Amino acid sequence: MANTHEMSKKPARTVKEPAKRDFLTKSLAGLTTALVGFILYPLGKFLKQPPAAGGNVKRTLAAKVGEVPNDSGKIFRFGNDPGIIFRTPGGELKAFTAVCTHLSCTVQYVPVESYILCACHNGKYDLNGQVISGPPPRPLEEYQVDIQGDDIMVTRA
Ligand code: FES
Repeated sequence: MANTHEMSKKPARTVKEPAKRDFLTKSLAGLTTALVGFILYPLGKFLKQPPAAGGNVKRTLAAKVGEVPNDSGKIFRFGNDPGIIFRTPGGELKAFTAVCTHLSCTVQYVPVESYILCACHNGKYDLNGQVISGPPPRPLEEYQVDIQGDDIMVTRA
């Protein structure tokens, strides 16, 4: 009787082990497939992007005339990049790229004190886009501004 009892246990164990191993193998294969998908999907999307999509935009509407009173600024979209347009306290309209030349944070116009600030590392530019202080290595690229009716248009070289 004892032998029969022992024999009845052994087959049950041998049946469970392959089933458990099979489950783990399938789980690992599924996990590997998911992991490869997580890596390849974004890579594929990145490689599929058209080169310089929107980067070739030469001219765009930056704002309506009434949106930029004296001593104020506004961020606008220029292709894929942000641009900044502002009106000086004296009423002159100016536009630049809003991409800081240090590490590409978006700059902003600071009213009253009248300068352009990159808050990421306290980089400061004057109203001509020249670096006043901080880590930016180069001036901001300036855009040409013209008004057509109620629209303020900007053009890059
Ligand atoms: S990114 Fe503008 S100062 Fe560093």
